[in-house]
Amino acid sequence: MKKGLAIFTSGGDAAGMNPAVKCVVEYATKRGYEPWLVYDGLRGLIDDQFVRAERDLVSGILHRGGTILRSARSKRFFELEHRQKAYENLKKRGIEKLVVIGGDGSFRALNQFYADFGVPFAGIPATIDNDIAGTDYCLGVDTALNMIRQSVDSIRDTATSFSRAFVIEVMGRHCGYLAMVSSLACGAEICLTPELPYDLDSIGSRLQADIADGRRYVLAIVAEGTQMGDYLTRWINDSINMEARLTVLGHVQRGGSPTVRDRLMAHKFAVGAIEALEVGKTNAIMVYRDGDYGDLPINEVCDSKYVLDPKLLSMCADLSK
Ligand code: F6P
Repeated sequence: MKKGLAIFTSGGDAAGMNPAVKCVVEYATKRGYEPWLVYDGLRGLIDDQFVRAERDLVSGILHRGGTILRSARSKRFFELEHRQKAYENLKKRGIEKLVVIGGDGSFRALNQFYADFGVPFAGIPATIDNDIAGTDYCLGVDTALNMIRQSVDSIRDTATSFSRAFVIEVMGRHCGYLAMVSSLACGAEICLTPELPYDLDSIGSRLQADIADGRRYVLAIVAEGTQMGDYLTRWINDSINMEARLTVLGHVQRGGSPTVRDRLMAHKFAVGAIEALEVGKTNAIMVYRDGDYGDLPINEVCDSKYVLDPKLLSMCADLSK
């Protein structure tokens, strides 16, 4: 009898999840597993939302954003009696291994599950926030950045036509990665993120000097986590004396067809996940660091705080003062 392997997505959806699901299923099949899909994340593990991963279910999904397996939060998974139920659902189908695509909260939940029942798992990092420790890249980031780039380019058209300032709020609950990279890629004059101290007085003097020198419009990109969108917009109106508008990009950043980079990363992570399980790793998280693919034991990922590239921070420092 073939060994069963189940895959599910968990946490905030991210472009690249679908190509990763497809690749895990296809590569696992090639390596002799019987693959299963679990719908609705951790909740589906408890509520028995399992379906055999037939070819039809994973064909034609590579280019689709979001996750065809859906995602859900589950407080019940924190209780042993519900994890027990999830384990029985695996056991009755002969499923011995798991692949989870999601964030560190999902990885921690599965690590507890491994401690309880000894079911090995491999994790594939996916979140547009790019705030998982140990990896320079999480699925969904490039697609989100391209979505932001397209939106900011459009906003620039109206900003230049009307000589206005635009403050654009991008996602990132605790991490300013999207704000920093998009500020550089889109040529913003101001970038506010949780990681960089900012100084409105000095930003004000810089902008006034630029305006005296002929600047007619201003683009500012702020990370959601700073909660500065409204304030900065009013401040530009009142202190810089330039008509300002706020655009909150919101969930548009999470959707859309995965870019080439996200499809390729999904492929690399998916193959890595199956191979890690094959060689007996029990709680490996796929990572991409300094241009190399690899994996790390979960404690090295979940017990550390993500660190942003110091070069990126220094490139953006001038935009927050
Ligand atoms: O996926 C991460 C994230 O996009 C954060 O940047 C954002 O704060 C959050 O999800 C929004 O979550 P929800 O969809 O639950 O409102």
